[in-house]
Amino acid sequence: MTTRAQGVIARWGDRLALPAMAPRISLGEGGTPCVESLTIGPSLGLASLHFKLEGLNPTGSFKDRGMVVAVANALHEGSRAIICASTGNTSASAAAYGGRFGLRTVVVVPRGHIASGKLVQARVHGATVVSVNGGFDLALRIVRELCERHPVTLVNSLNPNRIEGQKTAAFEIVDELGDAPDVLALPVGNAGNITAYWRGFREDHRDGRSTRLPRMFGGQASGAAPLVLGRPVDDPQTVATAIRIGNPASWQGAVDARDQSEGMIASVGDDAILDAQRRLARLEGIFCEPASAASLAVLERAVAEGAVAPGTHAVCVLTGNGLKDPGAVEAALTPIVEISSNAGALAHAIGL
Ligand code: F0G
Repeated sequence: MTTRAQGVIARWGDRLALPAMAPRISLGEGGTPCVESLTIGPSLGLASLHFKLEGLNPTGSFKDRGMVVAVANALHEGSRAIICASTGNTSASAAAYGGRFGLRTVVVVPRGHIASGKLVQARVHGATVVSVNGGFDLALRIVRELCERHPVTLVNSLNPNRIEGQKTAAFEIVDELGDAPDVLALPVGNAGNITAYWRGFREDHRDGRSTRLPRMFGGQASGAAPLVLGRPVDDPQTVATAIRIGNPASWQGAVDARDQSEGMIASVGDDAILDAQRRLARLEGIFCEPASAASLAVLERAVAEGAVAPGTHAVCVLTGNGLKDPGAVEAALTPIVEISSNAGALAHAIGL
């Protein structure tokens, strides 16, 4: 029996397309809890709603699942350096694993549109951080071009090892719930994760580990919704900077997941995203980042429109930790009550 502490490769290595001789590295990623909703799920009339807390991975997002596999393969191939374009979380993950396993790490990010915590993570782990005057799509184009000319390993989700690692989250959900849910809702940016989950659920179903396949519901921010519009978006905008992407690399994977599962990819406004984020924090005790809350926002939209029926078993993937992006919520917080230092003033301040 392997435990969470041993990580994704130790637990799922026999189901990953990773060379047998690749090093079995880990930072304790994966094994994240699936927590049952106490308030929001019942209020939506769902039979059950679980939140997959991917923000509890070592660097605070789901990216660690795929990064550990990509870095293991990079080490196996003798690579000395890794590089990625990122809206923040991939860069934090690459920096941590690169640092731990002795690889030079370079991350390329859109200037001025990265959550503060993510940027600090990339830097504190020792990555070289380069910012471009443009969005994620430009950063990814530049990085891909560089990788064609130089011996640097690309660790974006175009690297197939990333998708392989990320599919393990689907395995865990089936393990923990005893079967696949009816509906899986998740945010969609570069579209690697929806591609990975769909692969994981299909493999579990094929291997007889689950009796059903979930319908896949993807949430895109309305200002950054190329998959909803059916065409790339030139200047994507959203408060959910993690998914501020106009031309997803795994476009076809997302469309296949949606169509094969009879699911849906829909847009949700920034207001709905922030509202979902706030309710998750206040009602469920879960602080996720804005992009993650797009999973709940899209599920709520689907329920409201009748695309998801009452009595459904649903899982929302909360992809990243809210602590990464305090700036996104600060403006809406109630002010701190200031008092002088005595109990009388405290009692007065809290209405006793
Ligand atoms: N949620 C979070 C917190 C993310 O960081 C991302 C993507 C997504 C959802 C969307 O996942 O791209 O597989 O569709 N972040 C990438 C990054 C792009 O660079 O960190 P996706």
